[in-house]
Amino acid sequence: MSLLWDDPIAQTLEPVKETKDDKKSSRKIEVSNQTDAVVGLTGFEDIQTGAGRIQVDDKKIINCRADLNQLVPFKYDWAWSKYLSACNNHWMPQEINMTSDIELWKSEDGLTDDERMVIERNLGFFSTADSLVANNLVLAVYKHITNPECRQYLLRQAFEEAIHTHAYQYCIESLGLDEGRLFNMYREVPSVATKSQWALPYTQSLGDINFKTGTPENDQRLLRDLIAFYVVFEGIFFYVGFTQILSMGRRNKMTGVAEQFQYILRDESMHMNFGIDVINQIKVENPHLWTEDFKKDMVKLVLEGVELETKYAYDTLPRGILGLNAPMFEEYLHYIANRRLAQIGLPEEFVGAKNPFPWMSEVLDLKKEKNFFETRVTEYQTGGALSW
Ligand SMILES: [Fe+2]
Ligand SMILES: [Fe+2]
Repeated sequence: MSLLWDDPIAQTLEPVKETKDDKKSSRKIEVSNQTDAVVGLTGFEDIQTGAGRIQVDDKKIINCRADLNQLVPFKYDWAWSKYLSACNNHWMPQEINMTSDIELWKSEDGLTDDERMVIERNLGFFSTADSLVANNLVLAVYKHITNPECRQYLLRQAFEEAIHTHAYQYCIESLGLDEGRLFNMYREVPSVATKSQWALPYTQSLGDINFKTGTPENDQRLLRDLIAFYVVFEGIFFYVGFTQILSMGRRNKMTGVAEQFQYILRDESMHMNFGIDVINQIKVENPHLWTEDFKKDMVKLVLEGVELETKYAYDTLPRGILGLNAPMFEEYLHYIANRRLAQIGLPEEFVGAKNPFPWMSEVLDLKKEKNFFETRVTEYQTGGALSW
């Protein structure tokens, strides 16, 4: 059986094992005002002319004291290969034909009120959620990840988040929806608001100008916040909405919006898998952070996410549409939570949970097939397709 996240591009890889006798860094830069804690560099330090060349073993995901402005030699090949794959998957929202969606949306009887609500709620949630993710990357996470190849991927991810926000705005504009109402849903509709509200402390924490990694407590805070955003926010909070909209596409309704979501899902799947690789690598390099208490807290974090996303499912599907109902999503979230927990080395919480939407795994396996909406080939390589 094909697994949900078996996209060959997006699969998580084995973390790089730490060698015991890390060579003494030849390019470590002394920073004044250091305490005993190892504090990572930012990339803004003075250039040390004539210092020894950087070695692979000098590199670390957090608290690295080696020059951050040199991309090579690579240590984390998984980060670089995800960066390359993401660039090969480049797409833009305007490339997708929205004509039939506009026609259907404007027709009197093409969509039920419940179907319209599902579309509006999801555009409302995602239109602000992706800005929040982008702000978290740029203003909170980036500074504390002290590795150039991971930063290279973060920069690509940040651009993709901008494309996603653009895609939601493009759908809202194409359908002539009330922008003010949709973009304000995260302040006005409780089940939309609570998800973003839940995530805010986990970005405010790292975004705090006085926050520095380098102590076990702060390093755990960073690890916790990465799990909150990559595993819960991007790995759980997105999946009810994605499945609802992609289900509509499968029923030949709102195929343009669904195609936008399909591209976004492919990107998001890679974001999440990158985040999981980073989390697992931090664990390998800093095993003292992964304590029993911390693991319990992380399970709790994932379970909170499941609870909020389940509420979102019930809120968006009060009666069920197109053969979908909220209890099916509850089961799906249990299945997804098991996978997320296992991916970061925690025990599954929902014994025997099944996937009620096995077709979602096919949606992710975009390399093998044409776009299932049959509008165009989904896998394309922008670099090779350009003509001037
Ligand atoms: Fe996104
Ligand atoms: Fe993302």
